Formats: sequence, C-alpha cells, structure tokens
Amino acid sequence: MTGRDIISISDLSIEEIFEIFGAAERLSKAVTGRGIDLLKGRVLASLFFEPSTRTRLSFESAMAKLGGTSISISDPASSSLSKGETLADTIKIIDSYSDVIVIRHPKDGAAKLASRFAEHPVINAGDGAGQHPTQTLLDLFTMWKEKKEISGLNVGIVGDLRYGRTVHSLAIALVRMGANLFLISPEELAMPSHLLRAISVESSPKISNSLERIIPNLDVVYATRIQKERFPDEAEYLKVADSYKINAKLLSKGKEDVIVMHPLPRVNEIDSEVDSTKYAKYFDQAKNGVPVRMAILSKILGEEY
Ligand code: CP
Repeated sequence: MTGRDIISISDLSIEEIFEIFGAAERLSKAVTGRGIDLLKGRVLASLFFEPSTRTRLSFESAMAKLGGTSISISDPASSSLSKGETLADTIKIIDSYSDVIVIRHPKDGAAKLASRFAEHPVINAGDGAGQHPTQTLLDLFTMWKEKKEISGLNVGIVGDLRYGRTVHSLAIALVRMGANLFLISPEELAMPSHLLRAISVESSPKISNSLERIIPNLDVVYATRIQKERFPDEAEYLKVADSYKINAKLLSKGKEDVIVMHPLPRVNEIDSEVDSTKYAKYFDQAKNGVPVRMAILSKILGEEY
C-alpha cells in the first residue's frame, strides 16, 4: 500500500482491509503512553474545508502517536485560499511541505482532484456527499471486533442514505465483504441509484422505511445524521428531520446482542438513554479511529508494524 491514495473504499482490496485491521490491533496494543517513533520526521498535512472533530483530530493524534507531526488548515479563511488561490496551487505547495495529505472538502470529487496535483499520497476525509473511506475502515474494524466476522452479518443502515457519505462507502464495503444489507430511510433520502446499482452487483439489499419492522433481523443498527447542510432548502430538510429515533424501547424489539453504531456527530437519532446500555458502540467506534488511522498512515508511508 506504500504511496497509495485512498480516495474511495474501492481503492482497497478485502485482503488490504484485513491487513489494516491486523495492524490496528497490533498498534493499539503497542502504542500506549508516549507512543513510538515509526513515522519520526514524517509530516501529515490535514486540510479541512468543512468542520470536523473526530476525523481531523484522530488523524493528528495517530500521527503524533507514531512519532510524526502534523500541519493543518482547519479554517480556510485563515489560508491564502481566501485571497483567491486555487485548490490546485494550494495542494502543490502543501505537498512540498508534507509526506501525506488528508483532505475534507464540501465538493464531491475534490479529494480525487487533489490527488492529481500531489506527488505524495492523498487520503479522502470526506468529499461532499461522496465517500469517507477511512470512516468506513474504522466502522468495519468496530463491527469485526464486536462480531468477530463481517460476512453474514445483517446490517441495517438507517437515516440519510442520500447525502451521508459515510454510508456510501460503508454500503459498498459491506456487500463486498459478504454482509446482508438493509437500507432504511424515508423515500426522499434513499440511496442514490448509481450506488444502489453498484451494491446490487454483489447482493440485493432489502429496502424499507420502517426500522421498527426491520430491527428484529439486525445484528448491527448503523444510524446516521440527516445531513442538514446538504439540503438545497430548509423546508425539504424539515420534512425528514427526526425521521428515526433509536431508544431503549425500540432496541428491546431487536436481537439480544444487536449493536448500535453511528459515525457521529449525532443530533436526535439516538436517545442518550441508549448510551449506557450494552447496545451502544458509537463511542468505542470513534475511539477506534486512532489505531485504524495509525495503521493507514504507517502502511501508506511504507513503515509496517
Ligand atoms: N465521523 C466524522 O467524520 O466525524 P467528524 O465530522 O467530527 O470528523
């Protein structure tokens, strides 16, 4: 994987995904306290043109734990982009200051575009309503740790399947890995048809608008936020806001060992009463972001652990 861009989850084979899981396990055991010097002298550039808490900070934490350093743009207004510099020029310059670039951008395809102007690897940390492949890797890692295998799992993805980039990459990966997919959303927020076609090549997902009807089948409930910022107008958002609310009563209708995941941030999708139950795995999931991103960085920078 040395030198590889990660723009889409399809850039990785199933074998490579499992190699990342193995490295993440080893690194999470080995790297405690002061970390290690695996990436000493290496520089991560994190360029975030949209807000982020988990992705940016877990990448920067991962780099620090591996002995490297990070430079970052977290507020485009503070960079020369605000003077009219193009993304292409910005990327060429930052590429000359760093060994790997992590980019989040509001436009679909921006990470792919950035990779054309960078000699070093580019990692897509979310491009518009496109994909978020490293979120998918930590989601899959969490399912694998909790359920021991992914093949054969019944996974229900609930909420905004239209604009939610995390679920676009996740759905593609899950069907490739042999999971059974249930897609649960209001009609207005259904999975885009091009993705549905791509997913259906591997297996036919079951589609519903009722989590209550589907929940008895599920091993994993993967909830998502309705992506308010991507709706062309607020009235459309208000029609579907709060479509689903996961609470203890609903979960009592599911399997005894069903787990609840969410890429976070959440708004109203999961009642806080679920947080202290055995079902809740979303905070563990976010925590797994550090070892998984350590594994990704070490692999694409050619330093196996
Ligand atoms: N899950 C996720 O991408 O979170 P952030 O937007 O906080 O990075």
